[in-house]
Amino acid sequence: MKRPSRPLQIAIDGPVSAGKGTVARSLAERLGIVYVDTGAMYRSAALLAQSSGIPLEDSSSVVTLLSQARIEIRPPTLEEQDGRLTTVLLNGEDVSWKIRGEAVGLGASIISQHPEVRAILVARQREMVAGQSVVMEGRDITTRVLPDAPFRIFLTASPEVRARRRQQQLRERGIGLSYKKVLADLRRRDEQDSARKADPLRVAHGAWVLDTSDLTIQQVVERIVDKIEKSGLLSGGEEV
Ligand code: DC
Repeated sequence: MKRPSRPLQIAIDGPVSAGKGTVARSLAERLGIVYVDTGAMYRSAALLAQSSGIPLEDSSSVVTLLSQARIEIRPPTLEEQDGRLTTVLLNGEDVSWKIRGEAVGLGASIISQHPEVRAILVARQREMVAGQSVVMEGRDITTRVLPDAPFRIFLTASPEVRARRRQQQLRERGIGLSYKKVLADLRRRDEQDSARKADPLRVAHGAWVLDTSDLTIQQVVERIVDKIEKSGLLSGGEEV
């Protein structure tokens, strides 16, 4: 497989548990390029507020805290290969697993409604990818962060399929929640992400909608790679 010859941006959006993280990471590995999970940044902001005792609704205090915080996202080192897709450092502390809990996830959904919080994180996300090839995933990557990316993909699946996947993911981490509870939480997050005023989750004009309900992760990755190869944007690059 060839590496892209010029910076190549692949933007992926979609609802909770549509498979964005696993697909994006796998795609980035195949192409030998950087993977950025932007949800991890909103989760880190929520963790920061929660652990500092700041109400998630208090946007100006959250902004003050966040402006001084350092969030780093990088591939896991050999010692860190414990099932995580990415390593997240918040002010130097490894919070890769801490940010994955349900409470932090719901907190991220609340905090991401503040336009001022979004402005800070969107600016940082654009800085992170300037001039380099990247697979970036989140909720507003195709619409706001990288609206000119040559590949803009909206990954989705039915709420029932996503709830099953989520329940399985949680089970693997030793968290046993009923299907009913997982489905209810997922619908709540979907509602919050789509109904918010600032950059709601939506399908960008011209984005490729890929329903993953009946596909494996590998099949989704193959379809995307196929499309990229056919685009000719990999020609002339080095072999990975
Ligand atoms: O992808 P995730 O579940 O880790 O994201 C956590 C929350 O962060 C999600 O409910 C919405 C928010 N988010 C966002 O508003 N914009 C992004 N680009 C990524 C995540």
